[in-house]
Amino acid sequence: MNVWDYEQRFEQTLDAGAFGYFAGGADDEVTLRDNVAAFRRWRLRPRMLVDVSAAAIETTVLGEPVSMPLLVAPTAFQRMAHPDGEIATARATAAAGTVMTMSTVATASPGEVAEAAPGAARWFQLYWFKDEGVTHALIDQAVVSDFRAIVLTIDAPGAPGRRERDLRSGFVVEAPIPAVEAATGRPTGLTPAEVFALVESRLTWRDLERLRGMSDLPLLVKGVLTREDARLAVDGGVDGIVVSNHAGRQLDTVLAGIDALPEVVDEVGGEVEVFVDGGVRRGTDVLKALALGARAALIGRPVLWGLAAAGEAGVRDVLEIFRREIALGMQLLGCVGCGAVTRAHVQSGPDPT
Ligand code: GLV
Repeated sequence: MNVWDYEQRFEQTLDAGAFGYFAGGADDEVTLRDNVAAFRRWRLRPRMLVDVSAAAIETTVLGEPVSMPLLVAPTAFQRMAHPDGEIATARATAAAGTVMTMSTVATASPGEVAEAAPGAARWFQLYWFKDEGVTHALIDQAVVSDFRAIVLTIDAPGAPGRRERDLRSGFVVEAPIPAVEAATGRPTGLTPAEVFALVESRLTWRDLERLRGMSDLPLLVKGVLTREDARLAVDGGVDGIVVSNHAGRQLDTVLAGIDALPEVVDEVGGEVEVFVDGGVRRGTDVLKALALGARAALIGRPVLWGLAAAGEAGVRDVLEIFRREIALGMQLLGCVGCGAVTRAHVQSGPDPT
């Protein structure tokens, strides 16, 4: 019926360690919960007697046509959710006509993912590894495999948040990770802390220029939560920003993505495309993201829930649930398309539930 049904099944399908890794956040998981709760504090302001007979939800992201304003966020280690892992996600996302962002710490290589769904638009999430040779090789693989953008994660300088579920369960990654193998010679058996220790912690905004020089692909940064960083990112030449708190998994008690979105859009929304992730569970959440100025929203965990339940078919179903909800919401909101959803369609208030 809805993605919550898939969430329920997720806990029953996975072993405790993998479940805790995917479901968990940092410290007291305040931000993890707030990502979902924050959407409820934003209310829609629908307009009536608008001709919505031709309402549509297609849009473009970085010039690429997509069937709806919803993209797939990068999530790690997908073979731990289902044996088909990123291959299934790539096929389902391509079939749904939208963009998959593949993680650096995927359990498949960029080439394998590209081969699974040839011709589909995909973005590559980059962890800039301390080993620059590996970083360069990752970018080169993304380029030759026809990825359309690099999404640099900037909220994990050398360490994961304190994810106490993983510490309690003694979680180690049991699926091979090609990028980690390239960096360490060890494909599996690492803790999240060991994986994140590979990520460079000395990067500053000045390094963006060097990164832009490594390929001709558009560059997005993911992990911006303030107008100050949005300005630095745009002045550093990025093509897009993903407003994100890494699904509540990095610094706990930071703002929910949807609450940080307005200030980022106010600062740079006229210059680059802005995206948002974190806690998106309903079509109405996506409409709120559009109203607050996002070009599109991204979903991470709901994709994993679908993947664990039924592989490619499960991811496909999750994306179709969102498509139906976004389309219905667009119509009932009195909007004819993504561009018609404005700030006037939303207002903030206390959580009504
Ligand atoms: C990977 O990026 C994670 O958040 O665990």
